[in-house]
Amino acid sequence: MEKKWWKESVVYQIYPRSFCDSNGDGIGDIRGITSKLDYLKELGIDVIWLSPVYQSPNDDNGYDISDYQAIMEEFGTMEDFDEMLAAAHERGIRLVMDLVVNHTSDEHRWFVESRKSTDNPYRDYYIWRPAKDGKEPNNWGSCFSGPAWEYDSETDMYYLHLFSKKQPDLNWDNPAVREEVFQMMNWWLDKGVDGFRMDVISLISKKPDLPDGIPGINGYASFNEPANGPHVHEYLQEMREKVLNRADTITVGECSGVTLEEAKKYARSDGRELNMVFQFEHMDVDADGTNKWSEKKMDLRDLKNVMTRWQKGLEDIAWNSLFWENHDQPRSVSRFGNDGRYREASAKMLATCLYMMQGTPYIYQGQELGMTNVPFENIEDFRDLDSINAYHELTGQGVFSKEEMMRFLRYKSRDNARTPFQWNDKENAGFTSGTPWIMVNPNYKEINAQEQLARDDSVFHYFQKLIRLRKEHEVIVYGTYDLLLPDSKEIYAYTRTLGETKLLVVCNFTAEQAEFEMPGEFLDGKILIRNYDEPKASGKDDISSSENGSAELKNPMMLMPYEAVAVIV
Ligand code: GLC
Ligand code: CA
Repeated sequence: MEKKWWKESVVYQIYPRSFCDSNGDGIGDIRGITSKLDYLKELGIDVIWLSPVYQSPNDDNGYDISDYQAIMEEFGTMEDFDEMLAAAHERGIRLVMDLVVNHTSDEHRWFVESRKSTDNPYRDYYIWRPAKDGKEPNNWGSCFSGPAWEYDSETDMYYLHLFSKKQPDLNWDNPAVREEVFQMMNWWLDKGVDGFRMDVISLISKKPDLPDGIPGINGYASFNEPANGPHVHEYLQEMREKVLNRADTITVGECSGVTLEEAKKYARSDGRELNMVFQFEHMDVDADGTNKWSEKKMDLRDLKNVMTRWQKGLEDIAWNSLFWENHDQPRSVSRFGNDGRYREASAKMLATCLYMMQGTPYIYQGQELGMTNVPFENIEDFRDLDSINAYHELTGQGVFSKEEMMRFLRYKSRDNARTPFQWNDKENAGFTSGTPWIMVNPNYKEINAQEQLARDDSVFHYFQKLIRLRKEHEVIVYGTYDLLLPDSKEIYAYTRTLGETKLLVVCNFTAEQAEFEMPGEFLDGKILIRNYDEPKASGKDDISSSENGSAELKNPMMLMPYEAVAVIV
């Protein structure tokens, strides 16, 4: 397999609004990020993916861009950005920009022009259609509730917006749009940025006839309807030729609705399109059919099935990205682990399970502390338009009661990941000296970076060690993955193989002890990492430390609640 720096790197995602506020206005900013680069260096990450910092009216916290070549005032200035980029590079950290080009803000100059008249030069930059039978042109729904079409009386037509009505979709079939995007990307590359995370890039090519889709619980077809459209690969290949080939970039496409077969095209190792994609099948294991608003807990067998399909499916053909969290998902300890008694153990276990797989690891800010979901009390506590709109739409239609919907939001809302980063146990978790734009999770006194940096067995130090191990053992990056025990509902176990080297990863996903029979070849292996360090207090005494620190392994192993262990031979 071809070796690449971006396969060996670990990416850390920053959501600037919630990371660190440098001037006390309650909103995280670029200078705040610069002030924390040493923290990231200490963690050991190689690349920062920066959620959008461009000029934006903030209908969707920066994912609605009104000028791609200006910095949002609340976040600082272009000088602040340049300073941050230089400071990151000085520390050997690369910087990836969020590229949001499926849509712009409705306040972008192009859209302001486009809506003026049907013969405006920018008209065809967006997707306009007349009414059909007095209604929307088709039954597509917006990702954020309601129809994906907004009527504009100026020209008596509808425009398409797969996201909020302040996020009109660009018309990628128009070559002028593609040229604008490519020029803008080149401008950022000239500045020295190291790559792009491409927002919902799988949605850019719409079928010309915009056919109806199957309606979901709110009566509209999914916003994913246009996923993997007829020209998407052609457009990305054009982007590769006109932009990406110029520099040694890292690229990851957020591909909602991507199938394994499609991913093989987006992320093929021949380098014609992107380096890797974010797929979402593992984020659907606890959905209720196609509806994400539920409290359903996943069945571990479903998770293993999905992860294994992607590990094996892309093997030697393309490259995976590895994530449990981002700014659109709830916290993984609350979702797949245990955010009570076993919070630390399960945060470490989840990290071991995921980051020992094949692919490039992505860590979302706060995940390295085991930050949890947030005890939001009422709908006024939320800031995210997705959560707020879904609450009103689904309770209004009588699909769910208010109490039910609040429970679902507490479990799944994107705002769970967007509360301020917990730096210390001082007021507002050290995030701001002012009033934070969204509530701070009340557990910051107990869960914060300062406490974890000072404690050897913290989640932070465990993440640090996992990152270091990737640099020391090629098998973690390049080894072939094979699942063990596909039918176990408790244990996720797999091996990685590279030449003579073999790695075994065993994770207990339950709050009970679980017995595991190690494949014989690992019995004289060495423990690389484990999230419990004392010899077992109870149960079978399967691991005992020998003098040189390496342990003696015996069968059967009795795994502690949420135990994770990786053994190398
Ligand atoms: C992506 C982003 C999400 C945003 C949406 C619209 O899914 O990750 O935060 O709301 O695209 O840009
Ligand atoms: Ca600020």
